[in-house]
Amino acid sequence: PRHRIAILVGSLRRDSINRRIANSLAAFTQEWLDCEIIDIGGLPHYNQDEEADPPPSVVRFRDQVRPMDGVLFVTPEYNRGVPGFLKNAIDTGSRPYGQSVWDKKPAAIVTAAPGSIGGFGANHHLRQYCVFLNMPLMQQPEAYLARVTDESFDAEGCLVDGPLKDLVVQVGHAFAGWIDLIVRGRKLLET
Ligand code: FNR
Repeated sequence: PRHRIAILVGSLRRDSINRRIANSLAAFTQEWLDCEIIDIGGLPHYNQDEEADPPPSVVRFRDQVRPMDGVLFVTPEYNRGVPGFLKNAIDTGSRPYGQSVWDKKPAAIVTAAPGSIGGFGANHHLRQYCVFLNMPLMQQPEAYLARVTDESFDAEGCLVDGPLKDLVVQVGHAFAGWIDLIVRGRKLLET
C-alpha cells in the first residue's frame, strides 16, 4: 500500500530549491508515497501559555500530522543549523507533553544547498531531534544534496540533474521500505 507522508519544508522562499526537491520527490515516488507538503510558515511562535487553549492553526497542524504514516523533512541549513521556523513547527508538534504528534512516527531527512556540504549541519541537528522525539529515523541513504542550483531543475521546477534525481528516487523508495519494516515490526511486537 502507498504510505501517506507529511513533508515539512524548511524554506519559505518562493523559489526554494528545497521546495522544488520536495515537489520532485513527491512526483517521482507516487507509486510508493502519497506526499502532502504541510504548511508550517503560518504557525505562531510556540508559547507554552497557550497550551490549554492553542490557536486554531496549531490545532490544524497537529491534526494534519497525526494520521500520517511518516514524516519527511526537506530543508536547507541556516548558519549550520535548522531554520528557526522549522524548529518551531517541531516544538509545536511535540506538545502538550505526552501527546506529541512525532512519537513513533517514521522519519527521513533530506537537506539541500547550493554549497558543497549539502546542509550536513542541519541534517545532523535534525537527526538528534528525531532521536529525542522517538521517531524511527531512516539511516540510509543519507541525503546531503550539495551544489543544488536553479540549473538542477527544469522550468516546471522538476529535478533534471541525473545523479541528484537518482538519489531522490532512492530516498523515497527506501523510505517506503523503512515504513513497511516499522509497521511490520510493531505488529510483531503486539502479537
Ligand atoms: C544560508 N545558506 C547557507 N548554506 C549553507 O550551506 N550553510 C549554511 O549554514 C547557510 N546559512 C544560511 C543562513 C541564512 C539565513 C540563509 C538565508 C542562507 C544558503 C542557503 O543554503 C541557500 O540560500 C539555499 O538556497 C536556501 O535553501 P532554499 O531556500 O533555496 O530552499
